[in-house]
Amino acid sequence: MFKFPSALIAAGLLACTTAIAGDFGRAATDAEIAGWDIDIRPDGKGLPVGGATAEEGEGPYEAKCAMCHGSFGEGVDRWPVIAGGGDLDGTDPKKTVGSYWPYASTLWDYINRAMPYPAPQSLTVDEVYGITAYVLYLNDLVDYEWELNQDTFTEVVMPNTDSFFVDTRPDVQNTRCFENCADPASFKIVGVIGGVSPTGHFKEDSGVASSHYGDQPAEEEAGAEKVALSADAMAGESVHQQACLACHGAGIAGAPKTGDKSAWEGRVSQGLATLVDHAINGYQGNNGYMPPKGGRMDLSDEAVAQAVSFMVESSQ
Ligand code: HEC
Ligand code: HEC
Repeated sequence: MFKFPSALIAAGLLACTTAIAGDFGRAATDAEIAGWDIDIRPDGKGLPVGGATAEEGEGPYEAKCAMCHGSFGEGVDRWPVIAGGGDLDGTDPKKTVGSYWPYASTLWDYINRAMPYPAPQSLTVDEVYGITAYVLYLNDLVDYEWELNQDTFTEVVMPNTDSFFVDTRPDVQNTRCFENCADPASFKIVGVIGGVSPTGHFKEDSGVASSHYGDQPAEEEAGAEKVALSADAMAGESVHQQACLACHGAGIAGAPKTGDKSAWEGRVSQGLATLVDHAINGYQGNNGYMPPKGGRMDLSDEAVAQAVSFMVESSQ
């Protein structure tokens, strides 16, 4: 019987894959790969060069995290608690970074990847080191003067690390069923997991109807007169939904709620230019801290000004 020499088959396959690669798309650039390749392993592999002490992280934490997670990590309103919690035994265990998380790498990676909530991936490497160290400090795991960097990283031992282990049981033990199977059409999703993230501020009675995804303020739904928006305000609506709603949608941590006339009346009397200046450069008032551009430094000044117009005009 005739047999293909395996080298020929291999060459054929190679030609084939090359042809596919040539026809569709292009190779990812190093910069594109680096953009995705940001994960940190429990042993610290993947950490960029840098470092900062918990003390150095305190300022950035106060400015960018405390309005949601609290100055001591205790959590403002229903935003997640990230410090304290003690041991996990007992009837009401509290899962926090210190009580629950097995590895410090998760903390570094999570903050770097996903926080601050309104502006993920806006922190510098040293800010991530400092803030991570500060959160560890809030959990009594390191000293205030201790520096977290790629070398000291492995010194951090999380209290709950031993509770995590590799489960060696097989995933599936049942034999396959091809008889009397249920009709796939009868399967329905009957519940959702609740309580993971705060959602109270997106509820209808909070003034913004599930508006995380851009619905109209509830006042309008309730049939109140619709305000005709200027061109600037209309352009600013999507900026507002993306960059300002997280705080102004429900008025968290002292932010005046968009759509709430009484919350804005006093502020509007300062004049639009001042409000825009405060929105662009940040503002510390009596109610809380407004981070520059809401933490979204990628926004142009013009886009922020348009968002302010939207907020002011829809709060009259
Ligand atoms: C506008 C509010 C807000 C701000 C500001 C914010 N966060 Fe968060 N944070 C959240 C929310 C909401 C979650 C939960 C996200 C989820 O479950 O998908 C979260 C989750 C976390 C968690 C994980 C908590 C857990 O146990 O699952 C950590 C750690 C954290 N944030 C740290 C930070 C740090 C550090 C900063 C500042 C750089 C920051 N956050 C800024 C809202 C915020
Ligand atoms: C992390 C929460 C947060 C985000 C995100 C945020 N703000 Fe604010 N903002 C605040 C707080 C808190 C105040 C109230 C400060 C005070 O009066 O003490 C405020 C106040 C304001 C004010 C009134 C300032 C004044 O002088 O009274 C304007 C205007 C404003 N924000 C615009 C914006 C715009 C535009 C965005 C989006 C690009 C935005 N904010 C995103 C928290 C936030």
